[in-house]
Amino acid sequence: MSADLPNLCVTAPEPGGPDALTLVRRPMSEPGPGEVRISVTAAGVNKPDTFQRMGFYPPPEGASDVLGLEVSGTIDAVGDGVTRWAIGDEVCALLAGGGYARSAIAPAGSVLPRPDRLSLRDAAGLPETVFTVWANVFESGALQPGETFLVHGGAGGIGTTAIQMAAAHGARVIATAGSQEKCALCRSLGADVAINYREADFVEAVKAVGGADVILDMVGGDYANRNLQSLRRGGRLVQIAFLKGSKVEIDMMAIMLKRLTVTGSTLRARPAEEKARLAAAVEHNVWPWIESGVVAPVIDTVFALKDVVKSHERLDSGAHAGKILLQP
Ligand SMILES: NC(=O)c1ccc[n+]([C@@H]2O[C@H](COP(=O)([O-])OP(=O)(O)OC[C@H]3O[C@@H](n4cnc5c(N)ncnc54)[C@H](OP(=O)(O)O)[C@@H]3O)[C@@H](O)[C@H]2O)c1
Repeated sequence: MSADLPNLCVTAPEPGGPDALTLVRRPMSEPGPGEVRISVTAAGVNKPDTFQRMGFYPPPEGASDVLGLEVSGTIDAVGDGVTRWAIGDEVCALLAGGGYARSAIAPAGSVLPRPDRLSLRDAAGLPETVFTVWANVFESGALQPGETFLVHGGAGGIGTTAIQMAAAHGARVIATAGSQEKCALCRSLGADVAINYREADFVEAVKAVGGADVILDMVGGDYANRNLQSLRRGGRLVQIAFLKGSKVEIDMMAIMLKRLTVTGSTLRARPAEEKARLAAAVEHNVWPWIESGVVAPVIDTVFALKDVVKSHERLDSGAHAGKILLQP
């Protein structure tokens, strides 16, 4: 590591466990046309980063090999053609990579202003989960006020955000989580019902309250059929990951009889224009909830960038609730 290069970054040159994470020094990059450079205050640590570390989730073409899908910080350079942002603006940004660093480059369209109500540090915990929940629950799932929303992994980064956004929208929220403490957290964030999936069958519990209109699932495996059973007529199942596997046998009869929709998406590989469209929708619809205090990132722990290995050990352990952040 050449000590004279200013940008301290984290890569995973060889696939592996948390120890595969490597601190490297790089030159400071200049923003290209339509980009800004952010002096990073904090970076979010997300589950997809662990998949990248293990070699299962390579960066999309053209993206940095440095890990990290979201940052907050202060703009310190602006590329040609950028009109909205200026040096000194406090922002957070969704990235296709490059967030675990002192300095990150972001497409201007994926940048959002720091909400007044949040510290610059905590704003790093917003982009990845807020964009994901907006795109999947509100756009693909078309969740309506008064409908019932079931989110699995309710105490995780996505789950804690999804509970708050769905409750703010006026939906009835059911969450699953793996311990009583995590269920209590889900209820404190706005879940009307929280089910400890290690002790109770969520299908029975969801059916007991009339079924779900929209389910956000990242588990897959045996949850696939059970999700279909839990949906009421016209329900929508939105799949964002498969922690228990994507190859499943399902009984499609429920889809026909209940007129269900099964869909899903990824965020990272979407083109910059699509992310800019999502950013505008998020700023218009979600930022007011943050400013009014009904949605806020749940921060589990904050690690120094040099302790990035510990941050992944904590995420891999599953002991966390909400978001883990890194501070360079
Ligand atoms: N498609 C997309 O655009 C997109 C975007 C962002 C993230 N994701 C994916 O979404 C998933 C969640 O991300 P995250 O940042 O929220 O991760 P996270 O904070 O680690 O949360 C994952 C949650 O999943 C639950 N879980 C794990 N294994 C489970 C199992 N076998 N059965 C039931 N629940 C289980 C855990 O619940 P307990 O701890 O309560 O057991 C945990 O709260 C990740 O797989 C990530 O890759 C997808």
